[in-house]
Amino acid sequence: MILPMLVFAAQTVTHAGQAAQCGACHQREAATFGDSPMTRAAQRPADSPFLKDNPELTFRIGKFTYSVKQERGRSVYSVTDGTNTLTAPIGWAIGKGVVGQTWLVEKGGVLYEGAVSYYPATKSLDLTPGHAELPRNTLEEAFGRRLDSSQARLCFGCHATDAVWKTGAHPESWTPGVQCHSKALQHAAAMTTGTNLQAAKMQHLGAISPEDLAVVCAKCHPSWADVAAKGPKGVLNVRMQFYRLTNSRCYDSADRRISCTACHDPHGNLSNDTAFYDSRCQQCHSPSGAGQRKAAAATKKCPVAIANCISCHMPKVDIPGLHYQFTDHEIRVVRKGDAYPD
Ligand code: HEC
Ligand code: HEC
Ligand code: HEC
Ligand code: HEC
Ligand code: HEC
Ligand code: HEC
Repeated sequence: MILPMLVFAAQTVTHAGQAAQCGACHQREAATFGDSPMTRAAQRPADSPFLKDNPELTFRIGKFTYSVKQERGRSVYSVTDGTNTLTAPIGWAIGKGVVGQTWLVEKGGVLYEGAVSYYPATKSLDLTPGHAELPRNTLEEAFGRRLDSSQARLCFGCHATDAVWKTGAHPESWTPGVQCHSKALQHAAAMTTGTNLQAAKMQHLGAISPEDLAVVCAKCHPSWADVAAKGPKGVLNVRMQFYRLTNSRCYDSADRRISCTACHDPHGNLSNDTAFYDSRCQQCHSPSGAGQRKAAAATKKCPVAIANCISCHMPKVDIPGLHYQFTDHEIRVVRKGDAYPD
């Protein structure tokens, strides 16, 4: 199958474009890839449904009023104190918006993280995580968090692929969204044209151990060691899935049945089917649960229930201000009155 070579130029590849390229040969992965949270981890404003579907969003805190408006085909972010107003077009929409979406705006050659973000649970704006603690005395402070170029690079490093920086605040080119397979575009080009096939060999990530997979994912999802050394402590670390999962008794760094990809399709959306997760637990917690630690896990049978395992053993945890119930990956027996183990 010949694909038009034009689409391999970094600037023109979008998530949908990438799905189409790979999908010519990898139909199963590509079926859900185009709309998955990691593929849409960053978007152009014109591709963000929240921006497209809301002609105007506003939020008021103290003497400041924020607004995000659609004006002549552009999304415009502004804050006013009633007398003066600062305005700038939204450059990038970061986050698909499972929990929320944050916007980056450029003003006077400086990149800012918007002080307000969109939260789908409330269908409205609220402060961006971390901004409640920032000073908000002047209009400039209220506008957003100034990102120096290293902070901006980090953002694009985790939410986009192949961002290229020259000078100035913004990347010259970037591919929105996450790509875990290095050299994927060279591979796709080689497979399509039938040349340089040796260089086109790809690693089969599905076959590697949880520990090796962790190296791939922990480029962006903080590793156990990162969190053990630097925190955060308390409920904020419920978002640190490697840390939480590794701390549970189920975890075994050599057993693929407890790796991230046992429960999550990295090319798709989160499943909300509890029976699916039951089947994951029962890979080990059932008399037939085969494998190296068969005896230990299989003899541990739940005396309470035979289904809906995650509802009791992976409880939901609220992080104040984020309007989302995160799932605790520290699988355990939760007893009433227990403190959150961190
Ligand atoms: C023209 C067909 C074609 C296109 C386009 C293509 N691939 Fe492949 N891909 C293959 C074939 C065939 C294999 C198996 C090659 C082998 O075993 O060495 C493969 C193997 C892989 C593997 C290793 C998986 C495994 O199970 O061993 C990954 C990962 C992969 N491709 C990712 C991608 C991505 C990402 C894209 C899009 C950017 C892409 N491919 C585009 C044909 C293609
Ligand atoms: C280049 C950075 C990067 C890498 C590498 C990466 N992720 Fe992600 N992942 C993200 C970002 C960013 C998000 C948030 C996407 C969003 O919702 O906008 C995310 C979200 C997720 C989600 C939540 C999806 C949902 O539906 O809410 C899962 C599950 C996940 N990643 C698993 C993995 C696994 C497993 C790996 C390793 C195979 C991995 N990730 C590698 C950056 C990355
Ligand atoms: C070290 C990698 C990393 C960096 C740097 C990073 N993120 Fe993320 N981000 C993630 C991962 C992984 C997730 C998904 C896991 C989660 O939500 O707990 C995520 C989730 C998000 C979400 C929620 C997405 C959704 O669909 O709900 C937003 C919004 C977000 N990040 C914005 C930003 C912004 C803005 C920056 C830069 C100022 C940034 N992130 C920097 C890795 C990163
Ligand atoms: C035993 C199954 C299981 C394993 C293993 C697992 N998860 Fe999850 N994960 C879940 C469940 C269940 C949810 C919540 C699904 C829902 O929203 O209904 C979830 C949700 C998430 C979310 C969305 C944010 C949230 O808290 O709801 C992210 C991100 C995530 N997992 C990342 C990971 C990563 C990274 C790994 C590997 C370190 C991992 N998961 C391993 C079961 C698992
Ligand atoms: C890779 C195999 C494996 C998977 C998958 C797995 N577990 Fe486990 N689990 C174990 C092992 C091994 C133990 C420890 C048994 C022992 O005490 O020696 C354990 C212990 C437990 C315990 C007791 C913890 C404690 O603190 O005493 C609970 C509860 C539990 N698992 C629930 C679950 C649930 C719910 C799931 C799915 C969300 C799950 N497990 C998935 C292997 C697994
Ligand atoms: C209604 C809540 C609930 C549900 C649903 C549930 N459990 Fe449990 N489970 C518990 C409680 C409570 C305990 C601790 C019982 C005790 O020690 O008295 C427990 C204990 C366990 C243990 C440890 C047993 C031991 O001998 O130490 C395992 C393993 C376990 N559950 C696995 C599962 C699996 C797998 C599922 C899904 C098939 C599941 N549980 C569904 C509440 C639940």
